[in-house]
Amino acid sequence: MTAQIIDGKALAEELRQSFKARVETLTAQGHQPGLVVILVGEDPASQVYVKNKVNGCLAIGMHSEKIVYDKDVDQQVVLDKIAELNADPSIHGILVQLPLPRHFDEEKVLEAISAEKDVDGFHAENVGALSQGAPRFIPCTPYGVMKMFEKGNVDLTGQEAVVIGRSNIVGKPMAMLLINAGATVTVCHSKTRDLNFHTRRADIVVAAVGKPKFVKGDMLKPGAVVIDVGINRLQEGPDAGKLCGDVDYEDCLNVAGQITPVPGGVGPMTITMLLANTIEAAERKAAVEAGARK
Ligand code: GUN
Repeated sequence: MTAQIIDGKALAEELRQSFKARVETLTAQGHQPGLVVILVGEDPASQVYVKNKVNGCLAIGMHSEKIVYDKDVDQQVVLDKIAELNADPSIHGILVQLPLPRHFDEEKVLEAISAEKDVDGFHAENVGALSQGAPRFIPCTPYGVMKMFEKGNVDLTGQEAVVIGRSNIVGKPMAMLLINAGATVTVCHSKTRDLNFHTRRADIVVAAVGKPKFVKGDMLKPGAVVIDVGINRLQEGPDAGKLCGDVDYEDCLNVAGQITPVPGGVGPMTITMLLANTIEAAERKAAVEAGARK
C-alpha cells in the first residue's frame, strides 16, 4: 500500500486565498495587517525564510517589511527597535528570526516583544496560554501541522503520537497541541534510549530532528501518519544541493498510511500560519478599538 500524501503546498495556497478577504475587510476598516521581520546577521537560510515571510504577506495585501542588522549589532539597538514597534499602531506582528548571534540573550529579546504582537507564539505568556489549553498565538510550524491533520481527516483523539525533537519552536508546542487534541504524547530526543520502541507503536510520528532521512520505514507501525518537519540540504551524493526532510520519504512511503513530502509539505504551511496569526492579531486589535468606540 502506498501512503496518501498530505499536500502542504496545495493546502497553504487554499488558506492564503481565503485570507485575502479578511485582509481586505481589515484594510477597509483602517487596520491593514502589518508584520515586521527582524533579521540579525547573514545566515543564508534565514535570509531566504525572511524574504519568503515578507513576500507571503505582500502577496495577500498585507503590509510587511524586514529590518536587517549587522551580526555584530548591539543587543540594545534591537531591543530599542522592538520597543518602537510595540508602540506602532500600524504594526500587528513582530518576528525576530532565530537563531540570533551568540552575544544575544534570545529569551530577553523574545520577551521584549509585546505578547499581543508575538505572532511566533514564543513569548512566555503565549507559551503559558498554550500549555493551559487556551492558546492566543500558536507557534507557526506546529499550527501548520495541526491544519494538515485536519486536512487529512486525522482524528487525534486517543491516538499514540510520538514527537521526535524537543525544541521550543516545534517539538514542545507540537506536543502541547497534540495533548490538547486528545492524543497520548511521547516526546523523544537525542537522549532517548530506544527511539524505535517508541516510533514503532506510534499512530502518529512528527519528525523535527534536523537530520536528513533520519526516520526509516522499519521504525514505523504500518499505516502510521508521518509528518516531516525537517528541511535539510543534502551535502553529498548524487542529490547534493537538493532539499530533503528528516524522514526517508521513499523508504517510508510503502509503510505509512499518510505522509508529508519535502519540499511541499510542512514548509509552506509555516509561513501560511504566520500570516494567519498576523491577521488574527489585527482582527483582535480592530475588535478592541470597535468596542472602545461603542
Ligand atoms: N527560525 C526557524 N524557525 C523559526 C520560526 O518559526 N520563527 C522564528 N522567529 N525563527 C525561526
